[in-house]
Amino acid sequence: MRLYLKNQLDTEALGASLATLCSPGDCLALDGSYGMGKSTFARSFLRALTGDVALDVPSPSFPILLTYDTPAGPAFHYDLWRLEGPDALDELDWDAACEGIMLVEWPERAEDMLPNGALHVTFEQGAGEDERVVSLTGWPDARLAKLKV
Ligand SMILES: Nc1ncnc2c1ncn2[C@@H]1O[C@H](COP(=O)(O)OP(=O)(O)OP(=O)(O)O)[C@@H](O)[C@H]1O
Ligand SMILES: [Mg+2]
Repeated sequence: MRLYLKNQLDTEALGASLATLCSPGDCLALDGSYGMGKSTFARSFLRALTGDVALDVPSPSFPILLTYDTPAGPAFHYDLWRLEGPDALDELDWDAACEGIMLVEWPERAEDMLPNGALHVTFEQGAGEDERVVSLTGWPDARLAKLKV
């Protein structure tokens, strides 16, 4: 599925909408280069998942992992840009995360540790400064069909 997002609000709406489809065991791999909106997407996803519209969701770029308690169980937000290598995931609660809800920025750095069946949410620059083109791959069509965008 390919979506055209006009601005940050559209990215936030997509994050909130995808949160309603996720349950423990799901992984969203947030692909795309710097500043494409991965953390912005994750913030609205986690606010929707927790039901707290003002939830503080900093970028996990320095700690690599930030966790959140949600009514759907624990959620794990990773930014793997600074990861030394996939072996380092063992010390970052990766096994527990795979049984919870995971959001992973720079997922290629996890290499083959990334769970099978992850939904890849790939952000690319659109024509205008605030526009983005997003592709969603990795889930069955029937599941993505439930997405309200
Ligand atoms: N359509 C859009 N969706 C998301 N962010 C947008 C959009 N248009 C403009 N922006 C701006 O782009 C920036 C996105 O920053 P964000 O931290 O979410 O990116 P990122 O992909 O997580 O980057 P990094 O790789 O450094 O972690 C924000 O400043 C946001 O306001
Ligand atoms: Mg980020």
